Amino acid sequence: MTIGIIGTGRIGSTLARILVAAGHRVVLANAHGPHTLGPLLAGLGPAARAATVAEAAERAELLVLMVPFDSARGLVPRAAVRDKTVVDAMNAFADGGTPRKLDGRASSEIVAEWYPGARLVKSLNTMHFETLATAGTASGERLAHYTAGDDAGAKEIVAKMLTGLGFAAVDTGSLHSGGILQQPGGPLFNRPLTEAQASAWISR
Ligand SMILES: NC(=O)c1ccc[n+]([C@@H]2O[C@H](COP(=O)([O-])OP(=O)(O)OC[C@H]3O[C@@H](n4cnc5c(N)ncnc54)[C@H](OP(=O)(O)O)[C@@H]3O)[C@@H](O)[C@H]2O)c1
Repeated sequence: MTIGIIGTGRIGSTLARILVAAGHRVVLANAHGPHTLGPLLAGLGPAARAATVAEAAERAELLVLMVPFDSARGLVPRAAVRDKTVVDAMNAFADGGTPRKLDGRASSEIVAEWYPGARLVKSLNTMHFETLATAGTASGERLAHYTAGDDAGAKEIVAKMLTGLGFAAVDTGSLHSGGILQQPGGPLFNRPLTEAQASAWISR
């Protein structure tokens, strides 16, 4: 699959590495432009390309948003993501690093409003990039990654990608309820859990 990643910082570059290692193609975009991605591309090899944000969104079969939350608004042309599976891996923090107050909403519901028609799935937001780098290929019980969303088909596509990376894909429910479980302040955020441990938290 060709996977677009918008944001090539700590988490975006890590995801690019493990996706390429798992046999995917990646199209990468950042804020400073494709010409700044040479060193990252050199380490990733021929399965990786650099693009503008709009090009990456157009080319991607699945698009992952890994930029600071506020940067995502208006970032991608809406037409490029209509009917496309889009992963929201972003976290909404307030100043000081506390969870932002969202009046009981999941941050992904706000992203869904920014991109009407996109098949949005909240995923890949809970795990620290250093854990993501190695956990999928480590020995022992698989760690969980999550899918929250209102489009069952899109969640299946994301779950298949997660499984291929060596993780257990755990469905947390709708974009609202699952999103709240996954986002900062929720029980699944930044807490490496096995599938059984995660399921126990979800059913509480
Ligand atoms: N760090 C983690 O362990 C982790 C884990 C899960 C989820 N997340 C979430 O993932 C997101 C990124 O976190 P990070 O730690 O990777 O941040 P980071 O290291 O600061 O990287 C941010 C990336 O976003 C790009 N970016 C910023 N504004 C942009 C714009 N307007 N257009 C295109 N690209 C833009 C930056 O481009 P340049 O490189 O050109 O500056 C950079 O590549 C955040 O929402 C965070 O909550 C982080």
